[in-house]
Amino acid sequence: MNVRSPFKPMLALLICAAFTLQGHAQPAQTGAANVRERIPMDTGWRFALGNAADQHKDFDFATIPFFFAKAGYGDGPASPKFDDRTWRTVNLPHDWAVELPFDRRGDGNHGSKAIGRNFPENSVGWYRKTFTIPAEDFGRRIGIAFDGVYRDSQVWVNGFYIGTEPSGYSSFHYDITDYLNYGGTNAIVVRVNATLEEGWFYEGAGIYRHVWLTKTGPLHVAHDGTFVSATVADPTAAHPKAQVTAQVTVRNDSESSAHFTIDEEIEDAAGKSAGLSITYDAAAPAAVSSDYSATIPVHDAHLWSLEDPYLYKLITTISIRDKVVDRYETAFGIRTIRFDPDHGFFLNGKRVEIKGTDDHQDHAGVGVAVPDALNAFRVERLKAMGSNAIRTSHNPPTPELLDACDRLGMLVLDENRRMGVSPEDYGQFRRLIVRDRNHPSVVLWSIGNEEWSLEWTAFGERITRDMQAFGKRLDPTRPFTVALSGSGAGSSLSADVLGFNYYVQHHIDEMHARFPLKPIVGTEESSSEHTRGIYADDLEHQHLVAYDFEADGHHASVEDSWRYYLARPFAAGLFYWTGFDYRGETTPFEWPAIGSQFGMLDTCGFFKDNAYLLQSWWTEKPMVHLLPHWNWPGKEGQPIDVRVYSNADAIEVFLNGKSLGRKAMPRNSHLEWKVAYEPGILVARGYDAAGNEVASDTVATAGPAAAIQLIPNAARIAADGESVSVVAVRVNDAAGRMSPTAGNLVSFSLTGPGKIIGSGNGDPASHEPDKYIETVRAVPVAEWRTRSIDSRADGPETAPGFDDTSWEKARDPRWDERRVDPPASVYRGAFTLPADAEDAVITLVLRSVGETQSIYLNGHALGLNLRRDPVGYSYTLDRGLLQLGRNVVTIFATRFNDKGTQLFHWYGPGPAAVQIVTPAPQWKRSAFNGLAQVIVQSTPQAGKIRLTAASPGLAPAEIEIASQ
Ligand code: GAL
Repeated sequence: MNVRSPFKPMLALLICAAFTLQGHAQPAQTGAANVRERIPMDTGWRFALGNAADQHKDFDFATIPFFFAKAGYGDGPASPKFDDRTWRTVNLPHDWAVELPFDRRGDGNHGSKAIGRNFPENSVGWYRKTFTIPAEDFGRRIGIAFDGVYRDSQVWVNGFYIGTEPSGYSSFHYDITDYLNYGGTNAIVVRVNATLEEGWFYEGAGIYRHVWLTKTGPLHVAHDGTFVSATVADPTAAHPKAQVTAQVTVRNDSESSAHFTIDEEIEDAAGKSAGLSITYDAAAPAAVSSDYSATIPVHDAHLWSLEDPYLYKLITTISIRDKVVDRYETAFGIRTIRFDPDHGFFLNGKRVEIKGTDDHQDHAGVGVAVPDALNAFRVERLKAMGSNAIRTSHNPPTPELLDACDRLGMLVLDENRRMGVSPEDYGQFRRLIVRDRNHPSVVLWSIGNEEWSLEWTAFGERITRDMQAFGKRLDPTRPFTVALSGSGAGSSLSADVLGFNYYVQHHIDEMHARFPLKPIVGTEESSSEHTRGIYADDLEHQHLVAYDFEADGHHASVEDSWRYYLARPFAAGLFYWTGFDYRGETTPFEWPAIGSQFGMLDTCGFFKDNAYLLQSWWTEKPMVHLLPHWNWPGKEGQPIDVRVYSNADAIEVFLNGKSLGRKAMPRNSHLEWKVAYEPGILVARGYDAAGNEVASDTVATAGPAAAIQLIPNAARIAADGESVSVVAVRVNDAAGRMSPTAGNLVSFSLTGPGKIIGSGNGDPASHEPDKYIETVRAVPVAEWRTRSIDSRADGPETAPGFDDTSWEKARDPRWDERRVDPPASVYRGAFTLPADAEDAVITLVLRSVGETQSIYLNGHALGLNLRRDPVGYSYTLDRGLLQLGRNVVTIFATRFNDKGTQLFHWYGPGPAAVQIVTPAPQWKRSAFNGLAQVIVQSTPQAGKIRLTAASPGLAPAEIEIASQ
């Protein structure tokens, strides 16, 4: 053991696995090939919809004999030879459901997109990507890691079936070392089947999170193979003393046992060594994963907290005879957590009231394909409201959301998808915990939500107990909860922490008395429905007032919920259902509503009035919020329900300069005035106890909509093809006041190195598209006929009108194996150009069908005497070459040197197809109550992105976003 520390501490060292050694692993190679790599695999995927009901429309997938019986027999798109050149190119994250239209036959709980059982043609998506692996990588371990795919994904590598992951939320990782071509190209193929649903909310479809290629040496830190935890003697001390426990699972994939050294070193947030490390020797036999653990004292720990989310990094280095064979970084924070049955939740020894929201993962415009920067934006919006916790209802989140919570200071209740103890359930539960247990933001695990068939029963008691015991073996540092829908006996008997969904559905005081040793948290609360900017129910448009009212008999108001938990300091706090509106779950409406209205913020992240209500209780900075807006033509003289949300001590409201009275501001509540409407200016002024004005808010009668304003959340973004600027679109009157009821349709254009990836407006009933994308269609060249020839001659066969009816029909050789191929053949096939392809870019792609080939379209030579080419040929067609209706492709081919000519292959569509790309229509979106949103993403090129917005009758707007 070798210790390096300026403090020369006493080191506790525990090696959990020790082995008798039988020889040594080969010293690993030196140089770059030793360094761990984690390569993003987000760009350059080919994508096409298959079919869930018709194999032929599913690109003839699973139709050849032995396709699932023999290794490497993946057929259709699963074959590495499949020709995907007509498919659309997409980057990840990608959600194809959000690109689909709304349809009343779709599931309303899922946002009524045209996907699911009623739409087999939209429910299977194929993704293909080719990538090269250098020859020098031979001998390394190579894996492919998916952060999450919705859902039921099957993966093939080079035609070899690798595995199926049913979960739409679990991360998964496959070791593909043995299936790769080293020094050549490789194809990874993913078939995603989103026919079935997992949740009762919008879930998206596709590879909607990141994918990574991982490369390590044979002796390496296992996937998600570290666990860093810390204890702190007195977290309230000026210089807290911590013990950091660094556990590591080392995988020895070499052929012999290995003697090696593990070095654990702590880096501070600036990336400098914190001067704390431990080095120890270890050993592992071949082909096993072994666990090791060491403890490093940190004498003056910089704690992770909500106000100061300080992150350390643990650098784990594995060396064989002083040669580094792996280096693995784990971000972690040092903090203590405690859920106390009598006093709630404690972070670093201090009580913290959980001011949380439950959230699904979708955002306006992009569905569940949320770029990392947009996840960070969402966390920031919740923090701006004063929230300090997110429950990832009801599924494992994307790991990048947790990174944002670690970085920005947000607590997380990390939730498992479905309760169960089967191998499949445990596999997913295990991956969740092992992946997320290093995040300081995660303070509590949830094993399930409202599992009605078991939460009140002996099953529930058993399964909860077993899942918790399983989970604690993986993470003994955090408790587990279950979100319960009723106060029965069952899950609650064994849960560490009692999670209550809706206090009106429970007997929380009784449960507290009955289970005095169990901490309590409100896992869901309120669930009241409100539409941003609406102050009178408009059932025809599925809009509900934004005032905080008692929702119904089953749910409480936002205010009652907060006051209920405040009055019970034994509980840890609450999570509101929900932070953001989400698609689906359209309660209390049905079609044509397409979105929920439970959020404190709408789907874009615009505050509804309730977000300000929470802000008034949850933040310290003086604020006043006044509602409703002040545009009520026709209601002159009638009383308007005016409310003020504020954290000031007193509020005075003025209408057109006239005081309507000053009132003391009740804590954790709100103020109300009935104000006879007269157009003009309504002001609420907030005062502190000494009578000084500390904040104010104004609503003024806005004039007619006159101008657009664009407000980016970031005027500078990284030129990395991933970063985003979230741009608020406001419709203002001539004086720059937002027009609170404006619904103008705004069109957008963008120049420079960026693109719009989504738009929204927060209207839970809007059927406007979220996305405007190019349409990519493939039309196969079909009706192939053939005739053998001795040698090629530019004969009349190339003419479109040539009569080939006497020729033999070209057939798939699968069914014609006895055929003897002639030295040369001529083939004629045809395709019909669709009438709506006017503005389209049309590309003819062909495979080699012989050793040499000459290709003609409607009698025009496209290529003559082309040598056989594994990539094939591709021609972007001049309009003049095409004719409306039928077009004829003629190919003269000499037979392959090693076999005959071959028109069809079992692994792909026919020999030729036409790709028709219709450019995306112009982006547009109506404002909803004055606001809309567009999300602009960078490309990998630096430069100035210019976004303009226009609408008839309004002054246009333009902004510049620097991408660098
Ligand atoms: C809860 C459920 C949530 C959501 C909510 C709507 O019972 O756990 O997922 O459906 O109701 O009120």
